[in-house]
Amino acid sequence: MAKKKFVKESATIMTEMVLPNDTNTLNNLMGGRLMHWLDVVAAIAAQKHSNRIVVTASADSISFKQPISLGNVVTLHAKVTRAFNSSMEVFIEVTAEDIPASKKTITHRAFFTFVAVDQNGKPIEIPEAIPETEEEKELYDGALRRRQLRLVLAKRMKPEDAVELKSIFNMDITK
Ligand SMILES: CC(C)(COP(=O)(O)OP(=O)(O)OC[C@H]1O[C@@H](n2cnc3c(N)ncnc32)[C@H](O)[C@@H]1OP(=O)(O)O)[C@@H](O)C(=O)NCCC(=O)NCCS
Repeated sequence: MAKKKFVKESATIMTEMVLPNDTNTLNNLMGGRLMHWLDVVAAIAAQKHSNRIVVTASADSISFKQPISLGNVVTLHAKVTRAFNSSMEVFIEVTAEDIPASKKTITHRAFFTFVAVDQNGKPIEIPEAIPETEEEKELYDGALRRRQLRLVLAKRMKPEDAVELKSIFNMDITK
């Protein structure tokens, strides 16, 4: 298996149209349906990077700032930002498009974490992810801090060990 892969090799695009069965009683996309699409597109990106079976380990907080209407075309762009040992962070950007009105809006940005596992569900090592563009490098740099934050919140890391996370606040977050 490759030891390193470029971030762009994991790039995945998914396009959906919001149909009546996807909506709430206000004719807007249900949050749960969007989360399902996020999970699927991110899992495909994680599989492309790792060439493994992957499981969702976490989804960072997702806020729903504006509704997506019935009939809109929703496009989800996903890519791995950084790989660690068995886990990888995936960034997803969502746009909603009203094609007849020629109106396109970025509605959501989200980070999911996937873990590559073997046939027994045991975490397994994955290739390093190499960023190339400025945006990929920025996402790569921030990934370590975001990983530390989610591991602290999941009680899988002691706050005092989250060195990079603490450095952005320039303060001791254990106090
Ligand atoms: C995710 C899972 C494989 C981790 O297994 P584990 O035995 O706890 O393994 P480890 O402690 O060795 O952790 C493995 C990796 O997962 C990461 N991880 C575990 N929990 C995490 C969380 N909540 N957020 C982010 N990363 C997490 C660890 O940081 C580690 O990453 P690394 O190998 O890159 O350093 C296991 O908890 C699992 O199978 N969960 C269920 C997954 C699932 O069913 N998802 C669908 C939900 S409906």
